[in-house]
Amino acid sequence: MCGIVGYIGHREAYDILVKGLHRLEYRGYDSAGVAMINPEGKLNIYKHTGKVAELEAFCQSKDITGTVGIAHTRWATHGEPSDVNAHPHYSTNGKIAIVHNGTIENYNVLKQALMQHGCEFVSQTDTEVVVKLIEYIQSNNNCTLLDAVREALNQVIGAYAIAVIDSDCPDTVIAARKSSPLVIGIGDDETFIASDASPIIDYTNRVVYLRDNEIAIITRDEPLKVITTDNEESTVDIQTLRMSVSQLEKGGYPHFMLKEIFEQTNTIFDCIRGRIAADGTAIKLSGVSDHPDRFINAGRILIVACGTSWHAGLIGARLIENFARIPTRVEYASEFRYANPVIRPDDVVIAISQSGETADTLAAIKLAKEQGAFVYGVCNVVGSSIARETHTGTYIHVGPEIGVASTKAFTGQVTVLAMLALAIGQLKGTVSKEQLTEVARSLQSLPALITETLKLNPQIEKLSATYTYVRNFLYLGRGYNYPSALEGALKLKEISYIHAEGYPAAEMKHGPIALIDKEMPTVVIAPDDDLHEKVISNIQQVKARGGSVIAIVTKGDTTIPAIADHVLEIPPVPEAISPVIAAIPLQLLAYHIAIMKGCNVDMPRNLAKSVTVE
Ligand code: M6R
Repeated sequence: MCGIVGYIGHREAYDILVKGLHRLEYRGYDSAGVAMINPEGKLNIYKHTGKVAELEAFCQSKDITGTVGIAHTRWATHGEPSDVNAHPHYSTNGKIAIVHNGTIENYNVLKQALMQHGCEFVSQTDTEVVVKLIEYIQSNNNCTLLDAVREALNQVIGAYAIAVIDSDCPDTVIAARKSSPLVIGIGDDETFIASDASPIIDYTNRVVYLRDNEIAIITRDEPLKVITTDNEESTVDIQTLRMSVSQLEKGGYPHFMLKEIFEQTNTIFDCIRGRIAADGTAIKLSGVSDHPDRFINAGRILIVACGTSWHAGLIGARLIENFARIPTRVEYASEFRYANPVIRPDDVVIAISQSGETADTLAAIKLAKEQGAFVYGVCNVVGSSIARETHTGTYIHVGPEIGVASTKAFTGQVTVLAMLALAIGQLKGTVSKEQLTEVARSLQSLPALITETLKLNPQIEKLSATYTYVRNFLYLGRGYNYPSALEGALKLKEISYIHAEGYPAAEMKHGPIALIDKEMPTVVIAPDDDLHEKVISNIQQVKARGGSVIAIVTKGDTTIPAIADHVLEIPPVPEAISPVIAAIPLQLLAYHIAIMKGCNVDMPRNLAKSVTVE
């Protein structure tokens, strides 16, 4: 949430900053702003409500010169989206500017104290408090910008990634982080700062991931220096990015979401690559094989996640209980962290997060670690906070996911969780060789099955026209596909703003059935599995009440096509991994309905991709 970019070097900063903001726009798009120090040493700040394109239009006739600058794209927390609340925020003397991602919890206390010293505020944001505090410390203590920033950070409580510039020291950018991500790109005589690596990869692949409580001092023509907020020198650990610019572009698709749906053939291939023996008889996950005792002795597994990742977690729990026979619970990270949970030293906590930056999931794993649990990460973004905070884990390796609606990350998460369940089962001897080989070989065939399933696209596009203006949808599924129903409903509501609810199919008659009428269609995920007959009864119950049914069925099913209004046929696949295939038509249905409604599927209202605030 919120994206920040910074630059200092030999090029004009503005173009780099704005290009970077476009890359980070998925993190928030309520407003955007830039600040540059021009060659005469003047700090120019421009900000505008709305998307980055609106900022660019606003800047057209402005002085945008300068080789040092910072920029921001906002997802509003404190104060409505407006020009005045947009970042960068600045000091009263107009010399210091700051961009910030995170939330300052004690901002009001600090604000009141500063106001008593005559300080005036123009915005409702928590961020303005930080820059005014820096200014106050600097002028009262007559200290350097660095010392003032460090002292201010020792006074604030909360989460932050910040970048600060001061027209009195135009050759320096100060950046710092605590619980919000910040990456520094090291170029030749130039340095980049960003919330993730995507604005940096065009210029350099050498990056430093700042750790919590670290402050980077980026001085023109000098090596990067990093200290802690306690003023201890930190090591600068330069890593090499493995990301290509083409992964950050739409590649001919009209939207990132559609590109990411269609990429799943390849992303699942990358996800399983090197992890399943060629003949399908063994699973190789170093996160499991390097820590056998943790899994053999695990009394329980707790899965923590949010949103789509939580849905993947529900499927993961079933897979783990089925193949590894370890009792597994799934918790919303936001609930878990405040529930005073019982965590035991023999617990394994699995944190699932595409971004690896979700604030609640990060806090949940910190709590679990403090209480002695072994923490396993299932993340997509390499080097992300959750990936680094966990003891070990498995990357899903599906490449950058830019559309706000998670698609390829979900299928990657379920695929990794299936491999994880099999790997633990293999280690514990709770899964037979035949069973493991059957599921592992099906995992190997997923890319081909996904390609086949994607052929449903034209049919789903046509079907979507019938349902564009519906106001409510029900999604039903059972067993492994109950979470698919939740995920299908989430996809639809977040990008089309149509109210949708997911339910275990049998629960429908305990309440939701009252909603069913001609106006409320039901999507039923009904592949050929152990519960197929039961789902058929549930479909009959919907039909008996005049509801229309869109059913996702296994090719060859002759019963459901006779009763449902529309059927979408998916290829046969073992039930344990059927949610990967069932996800594809659900994603396409949500996409096409949203497009037909004229919605911005990549940047739906009120949402941001990476939820780095509570
Ligand atoms: O990055 P994470 O996987 O931790 O994100 C969790 C949720 O914020 C995310 O899945 C969200 O629900 C998506 N917008 C769903 O499409």
